[in-house]
Amino acid sequence: MFITAKALTNRIITPGFGRILLSAPQIAEQAKPGQFVMLKYWRGIDPFFMRPFSINTVDRAGGTLGILYKVVGQGTEILADLSADAEVEILGPRGNGFPLEDGMTRIAVIGRGVGAAPMRFLAEKARSMGIGVRAYISANSEEHLFDKAAYEGSGCTFTGCTDPNVKVTDFFAEDLKKMKFDAAYVCGSKRLMKAVAELSDEYDFAGYVSLEEHMACGIGACKGCAVRVNTKDGSEAYARVCKEGPVFPVKRIV
Ligand SMILES: Cc1cc2nc3c(=O)[nH]c(=O)nc-3n(C[C@H](O)[C@H](O)[C@H](O)COP(=O)(O)OP(=O)(O)OC[C@H]3O[C@@H](n4cnc5c(N)ncnc54)[C@H](O)[C@@H]3O)c2cc1C
Ligand code: FES
Repeated sequence: MFITAKALTNRIITPGFGRILLSAPQIAEQAKPGQFVMLKYWRGIDPFFMRPFSINTVDRAGGTLGILYKVVGQGTEILADLSADAEVEILGPRGNGFPLEDGMTRIAVIGRGVGAAPMRFLAEKARSMGIGVRAYISANSEEHLFDKAAYEGSGCTFTGCTDPNVKVTDFFAEDLKKMKFDAAYVCGSKRLMKAVAELSDEYDFAGYVSLEEHMACGIGACKGCAVRVNTKDGSEAYARVCKEGPVFPVKRIV
């Protein structure tokens, strides 16, 4: 759906990173972990396209959505200046989202920096279903381990890693020797995605990745976000990250 939402707050967390809280009850009602929204705050045609952002938090009762953003260019620079009460155009929720099943006992959520944005919503949803969650999050520094308190507050086991010489998936690999995981979900780093793909070959768990590609339309029309994937018959094909994704089984990624 396409709506005009009101920004409730826009808080800078640390230079270049912020959180926007939006009043968007219709989208909050429907949103699933792993989905994203296309967002536009600026007027006119420059920048031309809306920009995609993962849904970081959802409060259904309060009708709000939280977005965690990093300033990287023109659109996010404008977003950083957004003031409370500003009107924001939102298209969403978009994409397929992470598969979560009743009966799962333990999952791993893995991500890096702002790329881990969708993992908090996933972890909180899983905890509400009684699923054990271990979060493995890496970042350049402690202050970029953005949702650490929220993971811990919802009862997840949190492992943060800020050492550039250590992959946070090394801690996951250690835990895999000791306990069983039903699934692992990864976002925000190709290096971590590759590690999860390798670990899922060695241990018996379902691995899912959420991809971030450049997007134009965000609705499956322009094919600008296509990536190569493996098909069931062993050949390769293109899939649109905005429509068939952004979440794919890790084994499908070429
Ligand atoms: C499904 C999805 C979910 C996302 N979730 C978040 C999120 O939760 N928080 C967040 O901060 N960002 C997220 N992103 C990335 C975000 O959409 C881009 O950073 C944003 O569109 C950049 O807009 P801009 O106008 O500021 O930068 P631009 O001027 O468009 O680009 C600035 C620089 O960033 C690079 N860039 C732009 N978009 C991407 C991209 N998708 N992948 C890699 N590099 C890119 C460009 O190549 C360029 O070097 C997500 C992207 C996707 C596809
Ligand atoms: S962004 Fe247009 S098809 Fe995905």
